[in-house]
Amino acid sequence: MAESTASAVPVLVLKEGSGRSRGGAAQRSNIMAAKIVAETVKSALGPKGMDKMLVDSMGDVTITSDGRTILDEMDVQHPAAKIMVEVAKTQDEEVGDGTTTAVIVAGELLGKAEDLISKNVHPTIIVEGYNKAAEKALKTLENIAIPINPTDKEFLKKVAEVAMASKLVSESREELAEIAVEAILHVARKLGDKYSVDLDDIMVEKKRGESVTDTKLIEGLVLGKEVVHSGMPKRVEKAKIALLESALEVKKTEFDAKINIDSPEQIESFLREEENMLKEMVKKIVATGANVIVCQKGIDDMVQHFLARKGILAVRRAKKSDMEKLGKATGGKVVTNLEEITESDLGYAELVEERKIGDDKMTFIEGCKNPRSVAILIRGGTERFIDEAERSVHDALCVVRDVVQEPKIVAGGGSPEMEIARALKDYAQSLPGREQLAVQSFSEAIEIVPLTLGENAGLDPIDILSELIARHEKGEKWAGVDVFEGKIRDMKELKVYEPLAVKKQIIKSATEAATMLLRIDDVIASAKMKAPPMPPGGPGEMPGGYGGMPPY
Ligand SMILES: Nc1ncnc2c1ncn2[C@@H]1O[C@H](COP(=O)(O)OP(=O)(O)OP(=O)(O)O)[C@@H](O)[C@H]1O
Ligand SMILES: [Mg+2]
Repeated sequence: MAESTASAVPVLVLKEGSGRSRGGAAQRSNIMAAKIVAETVKSALGPKGMDKMLVDSMGDVTITSDGRTILDEMDVQHPAAKIMVEVAKTQDEEVGDGTTTAVIVAGELLGKAEDLISKNVHPTIIVEGYNKAAEKALKTLENIAIPINPTDKEFLKKVAEVAMASKLVSESREELAEIAVEAILHVARKLGDKYSVDLDDIMVEKKRGESVTDTKLIEGLVLGKEVVHSGMPKRVEKAKIALLESALEVKKTEFDAKINIDSPEQIESFLREEENMLKEMVKKIVATGANVIVCQKGIDDMVQHFLARKGILAVRRAKKSDMEKLGKATGGKVVTNLEEITESDLGYAELVEERKIGDDKMTFIEGCKNPRSVAILIRGGTERFIDEAERSVHDALCVVRDVVQEPKIVAGGGSPEMEIARALKDYAQSLPGREQLAVQSFSEAIEIVPLTLGENAGLDPIDILSELIARHEKGEKWAGVDVFEGKIRDMKELKVYEPLAVKKQIIKSATEAATMLLRIDDVIASAKMKAPPMPPGGPGEMPGGYGGMPPY
């Protein structure tokens, strides 16, 4: 009796309010969420893909076709959907392009896995099969890749143009590609027989006005700041630049202090003391021989006045990241403590000049000590257009960097994916039992790339796929979807080139996410992860909040 009473008492392991789903239910829910995410970005793929308009909880609007940006702005809640967002993030961080493709492929891998699970293939077998297939896919890509000269501008420009072909700025892709290639080759360093590129060496600034074709490459740096005082020079040649991290102001106390003053003389001496301190600061800087100051913090009005009298050009409130770039470019040291500044801390540039760009003034620093430093000044008519232009230029810079660092390319339009599918179908034949099914599924999943490109161009998916299969069977390895003409063409002839690195990373990121989700058979969501109730009339969810687990 005692035993049966004991068993009637529920054993609470998880806190009240926790959510849990297991086995098939957990898997189905994860796969479903991942597929929905993939479905959302599908229509953005390729030059004929559509853009998305995203509105955040503050009402800010972003217009983009960039996979990572779409997912970032979507603020998804489901844990599996979050893993899909991670796919885009990894892809972006590793190679900078192919984020939409990676997410679509991951979704399709999961969709095909779902079919296998319903045919009683165990997820572990699918995971093993997928990993083998991914390895084979990477080898296939290496085999078909075309080696190029890493400084061959023609190839590099084409790669940049293709990366921007699917973006809002595609009309101006030739001009922007030229700039991206010049910028990357400018900062590329030769190490042995390889090149290495640090994108941080390229400063990207944007300013509204004119059109995107007026985007310029500047040999040097540009700060979105004006000279602080009208009495200062607007142009300094042979600039000796002091880079200051601390403010040129009398420090305010952190707490409120009350000073009792009982005579006008005391006020006088108080103010004089302050003035002396500020004068002392100016003296320190003048003593180094500096004729330009870039300050990360504020500059007191009185200091501005003194500096102007000494003929020193000063800029304030520069971004921290820009200070680092300035240090690197001009060979100067960012000084934290003004007491310690010496001549050897100063940077050098041939010219520092304030110029009027659109309605605003910007400060250009050209002919820097380190000739590698370059900046790209993006122009465009509206704020949102410039933002998307900046993302597109980022993609272009990334793909050119990818190719300069690993000088191998493939053609696009879904042609490498078709070669992978073909190789995997052959490979599947050599495998025993159920793993064969998984490799077969991988090969079908990767065909989603040409299929989606075609679909977005308004073509019939079945016609496209059958023609592609037939032509690849005949050995036309670069046969892909020409989305502009609406037919199958040789993508190499059309010069639709993409970095091998991007294609390889797509396989890696998509497989990683799909297999990670397939291994999960238990989802336990702690009670505190539930979204807190919002006050009436408040936004749908807490900004940045985790949100609750959806009901399974
Ligand atoms: N002229 C073209 N004809 C056919 N396909 C093209 C052409 N230009 C680009 N593509 C294809 O478009 C696809 C890339 O599309 P898109 O840039 O929209 O997505 P992504 O690179 O995967 O993601 P994102 O750029 O958002 O990070 C590639 O498969 C590429 O081969
Ligand atoms: Mg792209």
